[in-house]
Amino acid sequence: MDKHKSDALVFFGATGDLAYKQIFPALQRLAKRGKLPGPVIGVAKAGWNLDQLKDRAKDSCDRYGGIDPEGMTDLLGRLRYVDGDYADADTFAQVRKELGNAKCPIHYLAIPPVLFGEVIEQLQKSGCAEGARVVVEKPFGHDLESARQLNQIIHTVFDEDHVFRIDHYLGKNAVQNMIFFRFANSFLEPIWNRQYIESVQITMSEKFGIQGRGAFYDGNGAIRDVVQNHLMQLLSNIAMEPPPCPTVEALRDERVKVLKSTHQIEPGDVVLGQFKGYHDEPGVKPNSQVETFAALRVHINSWRWRDVPFYIRTGKLLPTTATEVIAKFRQTPPVFSEKVPPQNYVRFRISPVPQIGIGVYVKDETERLKGCETELLAEHHCGEVSLQPYEELLEDAMEGNQMWFAREDYVEQSWQLLDPVFKNPPAPLSYNPGTWGPDAAAKVVDTPSGWFDPS
Ligand code: BG6
Repeated sequence: MDKHKSDALVFFGATGDLAYKQIFPALQRLAKRGKLPGPVIGVAKAGWNLDQLKDRAKDSCDRYGGIDPEGMTDLLGRLRYVDGDYADADTFAQVRKELGNAKCPIHYLAIPPVLFGEVIEQLQKSGCAEGARVVVEKPFGHDLESARQLNQIIHTVFDEDHVFRIDHYLGKNAVQNMIFFRFANSFLEPIWNRQYIESVQITMSEKFGIQGRGAFYDGNGAIRDVVQNHLMQLLSNIAMEPPPCPTVEALRDERVKVLKSTHQIEPGDVVLGQFKGYHDEPGVKPNSQVETFAALRVHINSWRWRDVPFYIRTGKLLPTTATEVIAKFRQTPPVFSEKVPPQNYVRFRISPVPQIGIGVYVKDETERLKGCETELLAEHHCGEVSLQPYEELLEDAMEGNQMWFAREDYVEQSWQLLDPVFKNPPAPLSYNPGTWGPDAAAKVVDTPSGWFDPS
């Protein structure tokens, strides 16, 4: 892999939602740490000028994390703006001009997936792709077929070494720590398998709805929005084998091996839901059958995990906002009373506050030989404020480090697992906002204790 640092950053979709909520704050933090390489060129079709983009940058940082005077001054000094249609060669001629002498620019496509192909083609024709890297937002494609096509288009212009499929979950410290914690502590590995673990649950629950993103959301739904990408990444982390060495490809090989040993997910293993009132959201089609909730049963057919069910659940307008992965251990037989003790577990809380909890049963102080449940808690704050996901991932991409980006085979495999569901999707069942989805979701879990609801 060539390790030249990128010397200019171009981001398409500069006036959009993602740029507003995530990219500007990340750029400001990178600027503050002296990590921005050269010009930062925003591209969009909004009829804006550079001053408007600068105002947008200030507004965004003010709202999401606060303005840092030093970082902001640096960022504003680098900011350029190209306004134009992505189908128009002139837009890209202007980008090329703004790139000046840059030899290794990075192009970040923070735009709807349907535009990826066109933009990539234009980057090539205009000479902007020469020596360049490309960062592609999720969802990468719409299904297996379109992901394959997209990979083909990208590879006509960029080698895989220069392609960065971004998934901000991979930039979260708590997500990286799942792997670190598993392989850096000796006590876990001997019990991290089908002999001891009864089941694993991954829940990404969101108390908020679709937040004005009706047009995007209605073209995707919960599975394409977060299951195929964020939650599959959590599945890989919880189930992967230790990589033989700490290299980028060794890690990425192990992640993809999990998906390769996972059975395709059949419609019968899935319950979909749609919150009541979804059709009233702006941008949503009147009779939309798009799911805002999904619960899935997944089986990994490996030596380590055979017959251990993995459950994945996500939804909008659920009772709380939290993302959690919990591995439940098999029950011990009762010793001190008739009652079987509760299951031990390891709980990785990804957000809002990262935690690792180990559920145990201890003797109650007040009564003889009676137990109570408690948790050993590791909160991994080491004093320093960790890098924010987009900040870390953009920095990695500019340095050519693909460790926390999805490889071509990984994205295709994740779509492949879901292919039967997309071909024959179950109808979404309606649920009341503020509940844990449709009642039928309970049936997805076939272990006696049911879903573990994060609080
Ligand atoms: C995004 C999805 O990728 O991830 C959103 O498009 C979702 O629908 C968000 O809310 C969740 O990310 P986080 O970091 O807030 O858990």
